Amino acid sequence: MTLNSSSVSFSSPSNIAFVKYWGKFGRQYPMNPSISMTLSNCNTECTVNYEYSENGKGIESFLFEGNENNSFRQRLQKFLDSITDVYPIAKNLTLQIESKNTFPHSAGIASSASAMSAFCCCLVQIEKELDLLKEDFYQRVSLLSRLASGSACRSIYPNYAYWGESKISSFESTNEYALKLEKVHESFKNVCDSVLIISGEEKSVSSSQGHQLMNGHPFKESRIEQANENFRTIVSAMETGDWESFGEILELEALTLHALMMSSTPSFVLLAPNSLAVIEKIRSFREKTGHQVYFTIDAGPNIHLIYPQSIEEEVKNFIDLKLLEYCENSNVIHDHIGQGFKKLS
Ligand code: DP6
Repeated sequence: MTLNSSSVSFSSPSNIAFVKYWGKFGRQYPMNPSISMTLSNCNTECTVNYEYSENGKGIESFLFEGNENNSFRQRLQKFLDSITDVYPIAKNLTLQIESKNTFPHSAGIASSASAMSAFCCCLVQIEKELDLLKEDFYQRVSLLSRLASGSACRSIYPNYAYWGESKISSFESTNEYALKLEKVHESFKNVCDSVLIISGEEKSVSSSQGHQLMNGHPFKESRIEQANENFRTIVSAMETGDWESFGEILELEALTLHALMMSSTPSFVLLAPNSLAVIEKIRSFREKTGHQVYFTIDAGPNIHLIYPQSIEEEVKNFIDLKLLEYCENSNVIHDHIGQGFKKLS
C-alpha cells in the first residue's frame, strides 16, 4: 500500500571516533578512513509527520525539545535542498519535525551525528513507506547522513562502524557510506566510554571549519598516510584483542587531531588546561595499575575514557576520586557501546 501521509519516528545515537575523520573533499568525502564506536545513552529522537504530494512545501515546522527552532529548521531545509538529486522526493514532501536529545545540550557532546542520522532514518523510512526504497536501509541512511554531517554516517550501526576507502585489500570500504565492522575480539564486545565534561561551552571553531583547514595543511599528505596506517593497526588490534596496540593508536589519534588544529593556518586550540591534567592522570593510573584504560578526544576539550566493561568499577572509582575535580560541575557521562538506530513507531 502506498501511504500519502503518515508519521515516522526514530532514535539514533552519537558515536566516538577511534581513528578520526579530519579533512574532506568533493561532496563530503573523507580524506581518510575512520572508525568509531556507537554509543548507547546519547541519542536524538526524531519524529517526522510527512505528506507526499506533487508540490511539497518543505519543512513547515521544527520543534527542538518542544520549542520552535528556526535555525535548525533552516539548516535541515538547506540540507534537503542540497540532496534533491540523491533524494528526489525532497521536492514532494511537506514535513513537521520534532526532535529531542536524551543528553543535555550543555554536555559539550557533538549532537550533529545523532541528530542528522535520526532525521535521515526518518527520510529513508518515508521512501520505504512510499515503496521507493531500492537499496539496503542501512546503506541508504548512512549515505544521506554522510551528506548531512560526515561522522553521522557511522552512528546508525550496532557496535563499530568504519567509513572511507582504506588500503586494506581484503576489506570492503567506500567513501559513500559507512559499514559495520563485523570481526572483533571478545574483549571488544563490551566497551565503556566515560565522557569527562571539561567544558560544556560551544566550541570556538566548528568541525566544518576545521575540516576545511586541512586543505593546504602542511601535514596533509603525511596525515593521510598515518591515518591509513592507524586504521589498519587498530582494526587488527580489535580483531585480535590487543588492547595495548589499540590504546596506543587511540591516544595517538586524539593528540594528532589536536596537533593538526594547532598547526593549521589560522591555528586554533580546543584543549583546556584541565584536558591535559586529566590525560596525565589517566596515563599514570594506567602505569600504576596496568588497567587497559585509554583516552580519546573529539573536536573539543572533553576527554573520553575508553575501557573494557570488566574493569568498570575500578575505572569509575578512579574517576570519582581523581578526575571529577577537573570536570565542569563534576560532570561526567557514563556511556557504553550501543546498538545503533531504533525505530520508535
Ligand atoms: C573530530 O562530522 O562533525 O568528530 O562532516 O563537517 O559535519 P562535518 O563534520 P563532523 O566532523 C567530526 C570530526 C570528529 C572526528 C570523527 O568523528 O571522526
